[in-house]
Amino acid sequence: MAETITIIDDRTGKQVTVPIAGGAFSSAALRELDPKLRMYDPAFLSTAACKSAITYLDGDAGVLRYRGYPIEQLAEKSNFLEVAYLLLNGELPTDAQNEKWIYDVTHHTMIHENMRKRFVDGFHHDAHPMGMFVSATAALGTFYTDAKDIDGTDSLHKQTLRLIAKSPTIAAMCYRFSMGLPFVSPNNSLDYSANFLNMMFRIGDDYRINPVLTKAMDLLFILHADHEQNCGTTTMRVVASAHADPYSAAAAAASALYGPLHGGANEAVIHMLQGIGTIDNVPAFIADVKAGKGRLMGFGHRVYKNYDPRATIIKKAAYNVFEVTGKNPLLDVALKLEETALKDDYFVSRKLYPNVDFYSGLIYQALGFPVEMFTVLFAIPRMTGWLAHYAELLQDSDQKISRPMQWYTGVDSRDYVAINKR
Ligand code: ACO
Repeated sequence: MAETITIIDDRTGKQVTVPIAGGAFSSAALRELDPKLRMYDPAFLSTAACKSAITYLDGDAGVLRYRGYPIEQLAEKSNFLEVAYLLLNGELPTDAQNEKWIYDVTHHTMIHENMRKRFVDGFHHDAHPMGMFVSATAALGTFYTDAKDIDGTDSLHKQTLRLIAKSPTIAAMCYRFSMGLPFVSPNNSLDYSANFLNMMFRIGDDYRINPVLTKAMDLLFILHADHEQNCGTTTMRVVASAHADPYSAAAAAASALYGPLHGGANEAVIHMLQGIGTIDNVPAFIADVKAGKGRLMGFGHRVYKNYDPRATIIKKAAYNVFEVTGKNPLLDVALKLEETALKDDYFVSRKLYPNVDFYSGLIYQALGFPVEMFTVLFAIPRMTGWLAHYAELLQDSDQKISRPMQWYTGVDSRDYVAINKR
């Protein structure tokens, strides 16, 4: 079978045949037919905007791999910092590389005092932590004179290290501020996830972090580290294509993640479950969704038309957490919703399955996080994915500044009318 595609312009009879590689053909074919011809593809449903060697996902089969490694294996055998190294460098670290990587991240976790005193303290007392995280990420770049030096590999590596190491510190700082609690400094003797939980929840001297809960936190970080060209990562790439510094680009990506159709869905799921209240109310809620009165949050995905593999892993992990914390009372409502939806033709025919956000909120809540922090918990590990894509884009000679075309539907040319004549 020929691995080519032939496009005929019926207006002119002109045709062009181009190769298909990796399931894609170059849009240069269209420009060859007619330089003014546009492919109308709102939301990029059929457009590959880049090549990428970072994450593979097959939405129909429910497969997710980071640099070729199945997410299930990484979730079971790896840890977040090792996964971060893998995403950024393409290979799992050797012992020596791992040791250096952990040392470097651990020794970049501190934040300039003015970040807290002058910047974070300036927020209104009830500011949303994700809004604070977005702004603080952008502000962080202003503390480093080399932030914009993205051409030098060493400098870019330094910015990457800073953003990955300081994201948990910023997140915890925003939380402590919103709770009116004193800031807890990073503790270099703790690993990435334990240090984050310590900065979040330590009150007094006798705080002990439960290893089961630390493992659950680390697992959630692994599962959220990357997910190829989603809305936030695409934002990161678009901003990076203008060669903006990684702090500004990451702040833009985090803003996209903030939206309830994206990373904000985990927060929306808990509000939805609380609104439903008990399993008796599930059928009425599902009927409302089918009647178009709102969506079943945590269900459906642009790419997964099967069970999101991350949701399977999270659902299992939830039970380990609940053994320590006691069962989240909303779990029964979630299970009933899933069971009802997966038997209902509305959801089955549209291939709507639980996504990563359906069960993650239940664990976050059991770990003691307020719902407003949920999207921040997503942003911390996703920072790694964003930065991997940022570096990949800068090294890709096919890339230029992003600049989509449009299909103009406005008024044709007309003359200005003076205000007294309108
Ligand atoms: N509940 C009810 N119906 C839904 C849902 C849902 N959660 N998701 C999609 N549908 C329906 C749509 O109404 C549409 O029906 P129609 O064909 O009769 O018009 C059909 O399924 C297709 O939906 P689209 O909106 O076209 O699908 P799209 O790929 O654009 O949306 C999205 C994907 C945004 C994730 C959507 O499924 C959704 O809104 N889900 C709820 C929010 C959510 O959980 N987001 C988290 C996604 S994971 C992440 O970002 C980390």
